[in-house]
Amino acid sequence: MAKAKTAWFCSSCGQQSSAWVGKCHSCGSWNSFVEELVEPASTSKTGPRKKINVLPQTIQSVERKEEARMVTPDSELNRVLGGGIVPGALMLLGGEPGIGKSTLLLQLAMQMPGVKVLYVSGEESPTQIKLRAERIEGGNEEVYLFPETDTHLIAEQMDELEPDWVVIDSIQTIHSPTLDSGPGSVGQIRQTATELMKLAKERNIPIFLIGHITKDGSIAGPKVLEHLVDTVLQFEGDRHYSYRLLRTMKNRFGSTSELGLYEMQGSGLRSVENPSELLLSTRDEPTAGIAIGVLLEGSRPLLIEVQALVTPTAYGMPQRSCTGFDPRRLNMLLAVLEKRMGFRLGQMDVFLNMAGGIKVEDPALDLAVCAAIASSVRDTPLPELTVFCGEVGLSGEIRPVHRLEQRTNEASRLGFTQVFCGPGNTEDKGKGTLKVVQKNRLFEVLQSIL
Ligand code: TYD
Ligand code: MG
Repeated sequence: MAKAKTAWFCSSCGQQSSAWVGKCHSCGSWNSFVEELVEPASTSKTGPRKKINVLPQTIQSVERKEEARMVTPDSELNRVLGGGIVPGALMLLGGEPGIGKSTLLLQLAMQMPGVKVLYVSGEESPTQIKLRAERIEGGNEEVYLFPETDTHLIAEQMDELEPDWVVIDSIQTIHSPTLDSGPGSVGQIRQTATELMKLAKERNIPIFLIGHITKDGSIAGPKVLEHLVDTVLQFEGDRHYSYRLLRTMKNRFGSTSELGLYEMQGSGLRSVENPSELLLSTRDEPTAGIAIGVLLEGSRPLLIEVQALVTPTAYGMPQRSCTGFDPRRLNMLLAVLEKRMGFRLGQMDVFLNMAGGIKVEDPALDLAVCAAIASSVRDTPLPELTVFCGEVGLSGEIRPVHRLEQRTNEASRLGFTQVFCGPGNTEDKGKGTLKVVQKNRLFEVLQSIL
C-alpha cells in the first residue's frame, strides 16, 4: 500500500510547504506549520466513482429516530450529557492534569456491570490503572485495558472486542501512522480525532477522548478538537479542594448549561447531590465579612459563602486579592462602594474568597460581595439566615437577576428566612417563612443590614 502523502500547512494563512518551517514565508507567523494529510493511502489513484446511496431530502421527510441513550449509574454525568451517552457520540473530556479525568471515566467503566468497555491508555501501564481501580468501588469484569497508541491497532481491537463504549486516555498520546509527526502535535491530534470520529459513527460506539489543557493554553490542547467532536466536557476545580465541576462547553445532544458536581475522595469521585450544603460552612457565631449569595449554574441554584476581609494597608500600595471571583469585577464593586457609599477603601487591603474553591461568574453575586465587604469594613456581622442576590450597577443600583424564584426556593429549602434582591420579579414574594426584600439601590440594602 502506498504511503499516505502529507504536507505542512500554516495554521494562520494556509500556506503549503513540503517540510516543516519555523517562519511562514507568506504571513510571517512563527511556529504555525502543522502536518496534514493531502492524499489518503490507497492502492489506486483512479478507483471507480463511489455509488451514491444517499439522496437529498426535505426536512419534513426526515424520520426522527429516538436515539436510545445509555443511562449511566452516574447521575451527574447523565445530567451533563443531557440524559445519558448517545450511541456513536465522540465526547471530549478536557481538564488540567491531575484533576481526575482518568478517575471519572475508569470509575464509570467499573460501575457498569456487564457493559464491555475498552480503555485505551497511552499514559499509564495496566498495573497503574489496576492500582487506581482498586481504590474505586464497582466490579465490572468487562473493562479491557489496552496500552496502545496506534489508531489503526485501536480500530482493530474495536472490531475484535466489540465494546459498548471506548475511552481514549489521552488524545495527546495516541498517533496515526499516516502522519510522520509525533503524538501531541496539532496535525496528529486533528488526524487521530478524525479517524476516531469515523470509528465512532461507523460502528455506533460512543468514544470518550481525554484531553489535557495546559495552564498556558498550549497549542496542542483540545481546543483544536472542539469543532470536531459532538460533546465537549470540562472537568475543573481547584486541586487543593476536593470539589470538581463537570461542565458542558458544547453538546450536540443536549443543553450546555448543565453542571455536575463531584467530590474527590479516597475511594474515587462521589457525586454531590446537595451542593449548597457543602458550600456553606457551619458556624456557631455570626462573623463579620461573611455573606451568603446564590448563583445559578445551569439550572441548579447553589448557595455559596462569600468571605471578605478588609484591613488597613501596611505598604504604600493596597492589595486586592480574590479567589474564585473576577478581580476586575471586584475593582468595579470597590469603586462603586467608594463613590456611591462613601467607603474609604483607598488605603485598605481587600481580600475576597469564594468558599469551596469554586469560580463564579454569575453577576447575581455582586450584592453578596458588596455586603461582605461592607460588613468587614464596619466589623459588624450581617443578619443571620440572610441571602443576597442581585447585580450591582455602576451607579449603585441593584438590577434584577434571572430566575429569582428558583434561587429563592433553594434558599427557603435550606432554611434561610430573608432574601435581599433587586426590583422587578415582583410576582415573587417568597415562600413559607422566606421574606423577599426588594431594594432599588445598594445603599438601601446596606442601610437595613448594618
Ligand atoms: P487522575 O484521574 O489521575 O487525574 P487526570 O487523569 O485528570 O490527570 O487523578 C488525579 C488525582 O486524584 C490524584 O492526585 C489522586 C487523586 N485520587 C483521589 O484522591 N482518590 C481516588 O480514589 C483516586 C483514584 C485518585
Ligand atoms: Mg489521567
